[in-house]
Amino acid sequence: MTLLELPDDAQPELLPAAAPELSVVIPTLNERDNIVPLFGKIAQALRGTAWEVVFVDDDSRDGTADLVREIARRDARVRCVHRVGRRGLSTARIEGTLASAAPFVAVMDGDMQHDERLLPDMLATLRSGSYDLVIGSRNVSGGRGIDWDGRRVQMSGLATRLSRLVCRVDIADPMSGFFMMRRDAFEAAMRRLSGQGFKILLDILSSSPRPLRLKELAYEFRPRRFGQSKLDSLVVWEFGMLIVDKLIGHIVPVRFVLFAFVGGVGLFVQLAVLWLALATFVPSFAVVQSVAVIVAIASNFLLNNLLTYRDQRIRGWRLIRGLATFYVVCCVGAVANVDVAAYLFHQRPVWWIAGTAGALVGAVWNYALSSVFTWKRR
Ligand code: GDD
Ligand code: MN
Repeated sequence: MTLLELPDDAQPELLPAAAPELSVVIPTLNERDNIVPLFGKIAQALRGTAWEVVFVDDDSRDGTADLVREIARRDARVRCVHRVGRRGLSTARIEGTLASAAPFVAVMDGDMQHDERLLPDMLATLRSGSYDLVIGSRNVSGGRGIDWDGRRVQMSGLATRLSRLVCRVDIADPMSGFFMMRRDAFEAAMRRLSGQGFKILLDILSSSPRPLRLKELAYEFRPRRFGQSKLDSLVVWEFGMLIVDKLIGHIVPVRFVLFAFVGGVGLFVQLAVLWLALATFVPSFAVVQSVAVIVAIASNFLLNNLLTYRDQRIRGWRLIRGLATFYVVCCVGAVANVDVAAYLFHQRPVWWIAGTAGALVGAVWNYALSSVFTWKRR
């Protein structure tokens, strides 16, 4: 049998034994010590199955990608998607899935915390045709999480409750990062995925056009042996963004809502400075108001940096450049604000309509321009 329509002399000389039935997608960030033992465990668990593994590495500093390619040179079941200049657990899983072709796709972590011995059961469940998605679950009977400290247990519980808001099915462990699904179910959801943060499962569940037929299989979440967890405050922030995006993202971008909220806080800051300055010393109102505006813009910049653009946070000396660009953007925004308001007021003298319209135009302007000049993606 010929492969595609290639001329005879262009046929590969060595055909792989079988096209994979299962692609296992593994995101990695500094997991070098885990790669070889993990690969061995998966190979053992999946004996007798046609499978492949796609590691998606975000340019780890410890040489994870080099190691994966080294294995790949000897074993055709292994591939490496090496991403440069980008980060993100969810997008890594999405792109790994898109880079594969098998009818079934599993995603699991690269640190051996997920039990690869569950893979054959997951596959058998999907092969039966009665399910779209099988989830490795810590929260059904027989399953177990590790003994996290109280704070992480609380956080995980809260996250689970929040996630029920957006995913329309009742599921015991929506936070799981270990599951297998039919490719067609993934493809039906893929264009609506938000790709934000860690929680791809939640993203898929809430992006699917129809409810997925799912099953949870119990497993024990193992403690990490090598390397470190990447869960930090940014992960928590991204989780919040994902939830809000799924709730209101189709109406208005979450980032803009945060930006507008920060703008509202800025108004308070401005009034507070004004009040304080007027109460203590009164040179001229205009001078005091100018100082208040300068302070409010700086505080907006810092708040946006902390909240709205947490994932692209500016640090160190770059803060000065960032603040400078933000001042310029906001000055032009203020001019636009005044112009629009004055124009509208001239057309129809209703002060609050004119004022609100001006503020809205200013906000959209500031939002759009600062996303290009101040928090540009690196
Ligand atoms: N490519 C890539 N890019 N991989 C990443 C990134 C990233 O930005 N961040 C983390 N990873 C990889 C890690 O190398 C690891 O293989 C896997 O993603 C999970 O990261 P951990 O840092 O080990 O996560 P965890 O143990 O705290 O969280 C896990 O357990 C949760 C259950 O509470 C993850 O599996 C979650 O998905 C899961 O929900
Ligand atoms: Mn882990």
